[in-house]
Amino acid sequence: MAALKLHIDKISKKFGEINVLRDVSISVAAGELVTLLGPSGCGKSTLLRIIAGLERADQGHVFAGDKKLDDVAPKDRDLAFVFQSYALYPHLSVYDNIAAPLVMRELSSLERLPLLGTALPGAAGRYRSIDERVRETSAILKLDALLDRRPAALSGGQRQRVALGRAMVRAPRIFLMDEPLANLDAALRIHTRGEIARLHKKMGATTVFVTHDQAEAAAISDRVAVMFGGQVRQIAKPADLYRDPVDLEVARFLAQPFLNEVPVSATVGGMVAIGSGKIALRDAIGSTGPGTLAFRPEHASIAAHDVPGTLRVCLSRIEHSGTDANLFVEAEADAEFVVRVSADQARSVHPGEHLALTIDAENAWFFPESRSRRERVEREAA
Ligand SMILES: Nc1ncnc2c1ncn2[C@@H]1O[C@H](COP(=O)(O)OP(=O)(O)OP(=O)(O)O)[C@@H](O)[C@H]1O
Ligand SMILES: [Mg+2]
Repeated sequence: MAALKLHIDKISKKFGEINVLRDVSISVAAGELVTLLGPSGCGKSTLLRIIAGLERADQGHVFAGDKKLDDVAPKDRDLAFVFQSYALYPHLSVYDNIAAPLVMRELSSLERLPLLGTALPGAAGRYRSIDERVRETSAILKLDALLDRRPAALSGGQRQRVALGRAMVRAPRIFLMDEPLANLDAALRIHTRGEIARLHKKMGATTVFVTHDQAEAAAISDRVAVMFGGQVRQIAKPADLYRDPVDLEVARFLAQPFLNEVPVSATVGGMVAIGSGKIALRDAIGSTGPGTLAFRPEHASIAAHDVPGTLRVCLSRIEHSGTDANLFVEAEADAEFVVRVSADQARSVHPGEHLALTIDAENAWFFPESRSRRERVEREAA
């Protein structure tokens, strides 16, 4: 079945006096996977529930293809919704839980009858086709060994995979997933997100995926919509989002757990004075005056003391994490940074030591204070 374009057009929603969504517009191309990424409470689930028809928008519309969905009942929207916590049928086996939507859709009530049903003309073929799809889906989700169990005999992660399976097996034209991996442990989470990405490629269903985990969003999305306070702040391909965050808040959210931020002043020509040196900004057009220079821990490195343009810092502590390490350093102006280095490099330095730091100007951003202040004012006024 051909995938459908999904268009979210100027959606606003209030709960009481709170603006939960403000003028949100997103176009998801047919077959595209777009992730809504943002902190808790920014309105991700509410937007997904509006797309599904479980919640009504105060303003705006949702279109699937050319069809306006506003007055279409949730069950007629041809979409599947996977929630973070998903109620399985407790009295049915894993197999029957996954098969349930197909059985309901493709077999008549007579054909569903035990024993007799399979004997009806044509029913055997339909049962076989359902069986194939249930087995294919359970193999993908590594549920094959659990097909005879009841949900009560499964772990949280296994239950969640059954819920995913039940949604996938219907091959819906639009897929909505609200933090479907949140209850899984780290390894399974990475495995399952890979499977979702693979399955998405194969099924080609238009998908809106919700997470507040930026690594997860980057791993599976065609594009990511970053949301704050009920608004979409930026929507872009993961690589573009990482390279060009639109403001400091987006940069911070994408650089978790650390974004280095230094108060600096930019001069005409895009030079920023930092410590004893200056760095030339990559994209400095129009941005002069006070602001913040921001960069990720992996975009600073330790240099020899005589390299020009370095920043003098003092190493305060080292946090090892296997193949690499985080160096916590203090700069002259009381600022603390984190620098990511290899484990080998971390072994050659010691707390208390003075180091020279270079910042990769290609991957540092200058956010002028005036702009962030303006944004703050706009946000507060809204
Ligand atoms: N039915 C409701 N009645 C009143 N307020 C609600 C309701 N549903 C959500 N909210 C509020 O709307 C805001 C957005 O909630 P929403 O669940 O959409 O956030 P979210 O981005 O999904 O957060 P999380 O990452 O924690 O799931 C929150 O402040 C929440 O408290
Ligand atoms: Mg939510």
